[in-house]
Amino acid sequence: MNERTLLRDNVADIAAYFAAGGWRPLKKALSMGRAAVIAEVTASGLRGRGGAGFPTGRKWSFVPQDAQGPRYLVCNADEGEPGAFKDRELLRRNPQAVLEGMAIAGYAIGASLGYIYIRGEFSAEAEFLTAAITAARAKGFLGANILGSGFDFDIHLHRGAGAYICGEETALLSSIEGLRGQPRLKPPFPAVKGLFGAPTVVNNAETLAAVPSILERGAAWYASTGSPDSPGTKLFCVSGAVNRPGVYELPLGVPFRELLETHCGGMKDGRKLKAVLPGGASSPALTAAEAMAVNMDYASLAAAGSMLGSGAVIVIEEGRCMVELLGVLARFYRHESCGQCAPCREGCAWADKLLAGLEAGRGRPSDVETLRSCAAAMTGRTICPLADSLALPALSFISKFRAEFDAHAAGRTCRAAGGGRLA
Ligand SMILES: Cc1cc2nc3c(=O)[nH]c(=O)nc-3n(C[C@H](O)[C@H](O)[C@H](O)COP(=O)(O)O)c2cc1C
Repeated sequence: MNERTLLRDNVADIAAYFAAGGWRPLKKALSMGRAAVIAEVTASGLRGRGGAGFPTGRKWSFVPQDAQGPRYLVCNADEGEPGAFKDRELLRRNPQAVLEGMAIAGYAIGASLGYIYIRGEFSAEAEFLTAAITAARAKGFLGANILGSGFDFDIHLHRGAGAYICGEETALLSSIEGLRGQPRLKPPFPAVKGLFGAPTVVNNAETLAAVPSILERGAAWYASTGSPDSPGTKLFCVSGAVNRPGVYELPLGVPFRELLETHCGGMKDGRKLKAVLPGGASSPALTAAEAMAVNMDYASLAAAGSMLGSGAVIVIEEGRCMVELLGVLARFYRHESCGQCAPCREGCAWADKLLAGLEAGRGRPSDVETLRSCAAAMTGRTICPLADSLALPALSFISKFRAEFDAHAAGRTCRAAGGGRLA
């Protein structure tokens, strides 16, 4: 599948979206029945685009059939990770697909209310989405008795206040409830006990936007696209030392080499590739050789020792200092740790402190090993994976670029050599 289904041209306006076939998949879904819609999305193999790649249809099926009272559908558009900017582009270019995907998901799980949790800094997108919701309501695609089916579904837009942790699904739910945005222990999972204690499905905006085309063209078509374990297209947002940074919708499984050389126009100013964070700021780094041999899908990246994450591809050029780069990540995660779990609160702070010392030439030879053991002690020991989001890149940076860390610990910093670049 080379065609774009998410970032289609000229569908930002509801009339154009409708003219291109939009909102018909909802009508089809309403005629199929809830169980058949869940079965179709399950058979399509769609995996969540928020980072973990969890199968979407399976997640929907976890909502208890016999639950009394309300259920909720939440669209996660918080997008706060460094290097991630795909949902923002999607919301600007194809907001109706997100709304239609929400209505279909809401129907499938029996929810009559949906929330979009949008990153606080996305003011223009929030205004744009508000207008998109109003337009969909005016056409009868949202609201009471949609298309005469008896199904009611409406959407509230909830603006975040700028905390990265509120992208984690349970912290997000607390934030909507007006509580402090801190992750909750799972189980119970949101599908059983979520927003206001009711069964809730949280899906990423890109995941939901993929749903209308699955209903329109069928699960078999979708499952035959992309790569076997990762069907469909993906929004890759590429930043760093490339000629054409930006968001590219490409089939999952596209070789990294093609993404870099064909779509992004190669390395900026002919620089040499040094490393890649293929799944955003929380993914383990790949060396240039590893990256050039990998395909961009869940299984291939896991086999290469990294992950697809949210699809934020950060390209690092030769000469860039990995110690300083890790320092940038550590400062971010230290700032964004909610402080609930000691390994995260203390670990991010210690990593930041050690890295600041190394960057400034105040490090000691033992600091590199301390940093490594600190990162190792942070993995898998917290309520949510924010600590792992620093620990995993840290461990990969240290193991793959150890000489740079040791050089800093011996006082040979790149600040002395001009800052950010190696001597
Ligand atoms: C610290 C942290 C931040 C996260 N931020 C986001 C985010 O901005 N957007 C998102 O969709 N998922 C984010 N996630 C993942 C969500 O918890 C959740 O898995 C996702 O929204 C589920 O959607 P999906 O099944 O469609 O992938 C974050 C997770 C963590 C631990």
